[in-house]
Amino acid sequence: MARTPMIAPSLLSADFARLADEAQRVADADWLHFDVMDAHFVPNLTFGLPVMQAVQAVSPVPLDCHLMIEAPERWAPGYAEAGARNVTVHAEACSDPRALARDIRAAGALAGLALKPGTDLDPYLDLLRDFDTLLVMTVEPGFGGQEFIAATLPKVRRARELVDTGHLTVLVEVDGGINADTIEQAAAAGADVFVAGSAVYGADDPGRAIAALRAQAAAAMPG
Ligand code: DX5
Ligand code: ZN
Repeated sequence: MARTPMIAPSLLSADFARLADEAQRVADADWLHFDVMDAHFVPNLTFGLPVMQAVQAVSPVPLDCHLMIEAPERWAPGYAEAGARNVTVHAEACSDPRALARDIRAAGALAGLALKPGTDLDPYLDLLRDFDTLLVMTVEPGFGGQEFIAATLPKVRRARELVDTGHLTVLVEVDGGINADTIEQAAAAGADVFVAGSAVYGADDPGRAIAALRAQAAAAMPG
């Protein structure tokens, strides 16, 4: 069955003084990606649950929360309770990812597991049966506007293969350095969801940038 690419603009590249307007500017997107950073798991600090709740109340697009934080068990269920569509935690930061996935799902969201570029997929395959999304980081987490790391694509290919053969049922998401020059490689490798920060919010017309990225991804998807 043909898959449809999903585009998730990252609010990290938006104007933080105008978040409601910035959410409105990407109303054609599939998800709005919300990067939570705590200055511990990653060096950068962004926004947390109160800001997410404020954006959730006005966003025309479901929120995709990416928690780049230590001790995600403390916060992740709160994002789900606040109405996030998907809540992703980092494998490297979780003490009991299976229990956390259960809590996120019980609070009404999809549960996502993220892997940094240097983290292998294979040790997490069994665990991923309890998750709905797999976020393959295609840059080191922490900042927008970095260069895409093509060496992460074998993980995307392997995940696609496992989904296509019925061994996993996750959406495969890529995050970092996704733009007009790189989205086709990621789509050809098998990603379903494409996070794009600077490529969408840095464009004169974010709506057109979303449509163009979606068309490129759709044309490059296998099958
Ligand atoms: C990086 C974040 C990304 C970031 C992507 O740690 O997880 O979501 O916003 O930004 P671009 O698309 O500019 O690389
Ligand atoms: Zn992200």
